[in-house]
Amino acid sequence: VSTDITRRVAVLGGDARAAAEASRWLDQGVDVTVVAAEVTAAIQDLADRGLLVWVRAEVADGPDRQDDPSPAGRSEGSVTLVGGGPGDPGLLTVAGREALESADVVITDRLAPLTSLATLRPEVRIIDVSKIPGGRSTPQEEIDCLLVEHALAGRSVVRLKGGDPFVFGRGGEEVAACEAAGVPVTVIPGVTSAVAAAAAAGIPVTHRGVTQGFTVISGHVPPDHPDSTLDFAALARSGTTLVVLMGVRTLGAICAALVDAGLDANTPAAVVADATRPSQQVVRGTVSTIDQDARDVRPPAVAVIGDVAGPSLRSRSSLGTDR
Ligand SMILES: C[S@@+](CC[C@H](N)C(=O)[O-])C[C@H]1O[C@@H](n2cnc3c(N)ncnc32)[C@H](O)[C@@H]1O
Repeated sequence: VSTDITRRVAVLGGDARAAAEASRWLDQGVDVTVVAAEVTAAIQDLADRGLLVWVRAEVADGPDRQDDPSPAGRSEGSVTLVGGGPGDPGLLTVAGREALESADVVITDRLAPLTSLATLRPEVRIIDVSKIPGGRSTPQEEIDCLLVEHALAGRSVVRLKGGDPFVFGRGGEEVAACEAAGVPVTVIPGVTSAVAAAAAAGIPVTHRGVTQGFTVISGHVPPDHPDSTLDFAALARSGTTLVVLMGVRTLGAICAALVDAGLDANTPAAVVADATRPSQQVVRGTVSTIDQDARDVRPPAVAVIGDVAGPSLRSRSSLGTDR
């Protein structure tokens, strides 16, 4: 890595460790250029979103390394699913951090707090299995196999995931794959973006006197899709804050379905992208306008629909009143 006083750095190499290094600099608000012939999916995603520059060039003696680490003196391997939180390395739990520090192999995602990997021991193997919407991805079965194979070879494996492993994270499938192979597996919960993205934008998902609950849904498929199992009429009358994950592409259809089902068209809404990262973006509108208001937003983003997303929350607060 070379730096200059204009706060620009060049990261040489495109592997998962280079991704961690690049992420660490980005967190500090530094402009990053990655110089490498090939890059991991996470680096490609950051480049595609304009958050860093990727210069395609061979790097002599780059940091790429392929060797599998030998297990650190353990007889039995194991897998720990770690919820990494929404991206800010400060929102990784202490237990998650400790698991990372004792890992032989870390299998990571683009939404995980990559900066947390920058300080791992050099012998730790980091494998990027990012899934990019509409782009590169590693099939889930392959990820399951990687977890099991490294653990059966006696290694301590951490599967580092964004948010919480069990909130749209396919963590349940990874646990099942380990159990089927007789591999000991534990789960360390994480701070989910379903709550943290709203909070990072100053939006409480519940607020006394405003809403008594929140409902988290996947926007992976639009409401009219044969795979959609959500009851939009029930959601529209639920009276809870609605939090939509994976819904950038489908937000227009979701909002239309909610309004068609009777949700007030003036219900406040917000979209929070890249929450808790330096590139965080917040767009506000109503359930009728938010799709257009947020048309330039790219994933990852969370949409929050409900009175808690409105500008006048404080004036309608019941703070200070009796129950
Ligand atoms: C496959 S789901 C995984 C959710 C994750 N397990 C969690 O608990 O946050 C990916 C979605 O999480 C949301 N997401 C994750 N990190 C985010 C962030 N930093 N800012 C906004 N949305 C985020 C986006 O809706 C994204 O499409």
